Amino acid sequence: VSAPEEVRIGIVGAGFIGDVHSAAYRAVAGIYPDAPRRVTLAVVADADAERGARLASAWGWERAERDWHAVTRADDVDVVDVCVPNALHAEIAIDALQHGKHVICEKPLAHDVASARAMCEAAEASGRLAQVCFYYRLWPAIAWARQLVERGEIGAISHFRGWMLQDYAAAAQHDLGWRQRRSDAGAGALGDLGSHISDIARYLCGEIVEVCATTRELVARPGGSTGIDDIVSMLVSFESGAGGVLEASWALRGHKCDLGFDLVGDAGAIRFSWERSNEIEVLTGDPADPMNGFRRILIGGGIQPDTARFSGVPGQGMGYRDAFTIGVGQLLRALETAETSVEPTFADGLRVGQIVAAAQESAQRRGFVRVATA
Ligand SMILES: NC(=O)c1ccc[n+]([C@@H]2O[C@H](COP(=O)([O-])OP(=O)(O)OC[C@H]3O[C@@H](n4cnc5c(N)ncnc54)[C@H](O)[C@@H]3O)[C@@H](O)[C@H]2O)c1
Repeated sequence: VSAPEEVRIGIVGAGFIGDVHSAAYRAVAGIYPDAPRRVTLAVVADADAERGARLASAWGWERAERDWHAVTRADDVDVVDVCVPNALHAEIAIDALQHGKHVICEKPLAHDVASARAMCEAAEASGRLAQVCFYYRLWPAIAWARQLVERGEIGAISHFRGWMLQDYAAAAQHDLGWRQRRSDAGAGALGDLGSHISDIARYLCGEIVEVCATTRELVARPGGSTGIDDIVSMLVSFESGAGGVLEASWALRGHKCDLGFDLVGDAGAIRFSWERSNEIEVLTGDPADPMNGFRRILIGGGIQPDTARFSGVPGQGMGYRDAFTIGVGQLLRALETAETSVEPTFADGLRVGQIVAAAQESAQRRGFVRVATA
């Protein structure tokens, strides 16, 4: 297989996450020497020309455009990266796939299930790589937790408590922008942050088949009710028969980037919180032993997946942006080795969209709802 010498990236959206992705493309060649040797930041498109120009000059994108078609249809672009509000993902990603591009798309995959399904179909028909940015699952501590589960270290999973709690929107005057419009976002904290923990739950425990959710507005915003949730709490049942509880909010004071879980099996347990993202707690062994308890393990030094790429020295630590370098690195490496898919896939994105939709329906009907699989 002849590996691509150069991969040219086009990005749509020069906001918060466009900046994070730009940093990842700059870092990736050094961190992933097993990926294409040259990653070129070819073109950025943002409807706000000033933002586009700022991103281009900060990270060295070759040119900036306003119309996203100038990215999805550019002859000199191999990978299109979609970093715009949720309701725009589908149209842009599908156009890119239909024009022969590989696609990286921010989460949630789409603002509704029909769009997410159309994106999956387009990805399948195109034969191109299509990845959704549920990159928390690629974080070394979390990827390692999955390896421990697969190795049977904690036995059969009986319960999963998971949460993704932040407080960036706790202040009444915080402008949520497009995130407070259902037409742009699809859901509130449930879609924005609940999607992350739903992905982690299924990554570690298998498919979620049933949910019972409540959603609430917590913050009295100056313009009145947004009709969009600030918090979701849900009971979930996994296909395996295990149960769980998931919570997500963007307005719970004191929680910063608190993506965490308490994963309990019949032979042990694993605990993690992103607020201490460079460590993980693992419990195994004989519960009758009075010294039995959680071990706190610092990630790094090559023990957990991908950590050796960043530093061979245990304990030096990694950060949020490194998760994105791992994400784009995996897609670029998949290009190099001609793999036909790379995780997290658009199918993962659709499945999470179905969980979000079931939670919305459940909250409205006030009862358990099966998660659609078709
Ligand atoms: N994976 C993560 O951890 C993570 C974190 C933050 C955001 N996100 C996701 O990234 C996406 C963007 O979020 P953000 O926080 O960067 O938002 P943002 O508001 O900071 O940026 C969005 C950008 O899109 C541009 N835009 C809007 N409409 C456009 C159009 N028609 N054509 C071209 N550009 C257009 C805006 O001008 C803006 O610059 C969302 O889907 C969000 O859920 C993911």
